[in-house]
Amino acid sequence: MKIAIIGSGNIGSNLSRCWVKSGHEVTIGSRNPASTRVKELIGSIDGPIDAKHPRDACVNADIVVLAVPWGAIDDSLSNFCDLSGKILIDVNNPVDTKKMELIFDGHDSGAEYIARRVPNLRVVKAFNTVASELIGSSKIKGVDVSVPIACDNQDDLKLVMELVRETGLDPINAGPLNKSRLLEALAMLIICFSRGDYGRNIGFKLLR
Ligand SMILES: NC(=O)c1ccc[n+]([C@@H]2O[C@H](COP(=O)([O-])OP(=O)(O)OC[C@H]3O[C@@H](n4cnc5c(N)ncnc54)[C@H](OP(=O)(O)O)[C@@H]3O)[C@@H](O)[C@H]2O)c1
Repeated sequence: MKIAIIGSGNIGSNLSRCWVKSGHEVTIGSRNPASTRVKELIGSIDGPIDAKHPRDACVNADIVVLAVPWGAIDDSLSNFCDLSGKILIDVNNPVDTKKMELIFDGHDSGAEYIARRVPNLRVVKAFNTVASELIGSSKIKGVDVSVPIACDNQDDLKLVMELVRETGLDPINAGPLNKSRLLEALAMLIICFSRGDYGRNIGFKLLR
């Protein structure tokens, strides 16, 4: 598949590595595609990967991943090409970093906000509950961490479940997109654990 990953940071770079390895064509959408940092990232990945401005990165993509700080979401969405009909994987956590609180209350979520902003976008919430280091790298004590996925379309769910498996993680169906409210709250709880006694090498597992 052709995957555009907007944001060349922690999450964007690790997802790129995994998916190029599994045979996908990845285009990183970066504000500075010619920067040394982005060139080094691309140079470190062996396979079909390049970098373009976000507007151009999405044009031929089957799937777009949005992996930018929450404060940059509006800017990012207004700079994209026409995304209608595309799948967008939303990995973002809408956190007010000064207060360390979720921006949306329990009746809304970042994923639903993005879906409202872009008509006909097929938004899938995934990866927001895992630390970027866990993507493609390691299990915790031999256990693959779970990645709950929320979306409204069963075909999109199946596809993103497979993409999650390709990162070495354990996909689980969390239900429709409005369950993103719970996924974002779960991420907030994991962030609190990380910043408290437990560090970043932690994850959530649905035992079944
Ligand atoms: N880090 C984690 O463990 C983790 C886990 C789960 C979810 N998340 C979520 O995933 C999203 C990305 O997190 P991350 O850790 O990958 O962030 P990051 O390392 O800071 O990278 C974000 C990337 O977004 C791009 N960007 C676009 N507009 C920006 C702006 N105004 N300011 C700064 N960067 C901008 C930048 O790429 P260019 O410079 O190339 O444009 C930057 O490298 C966040 O919403 C976060 O809540 C993170």
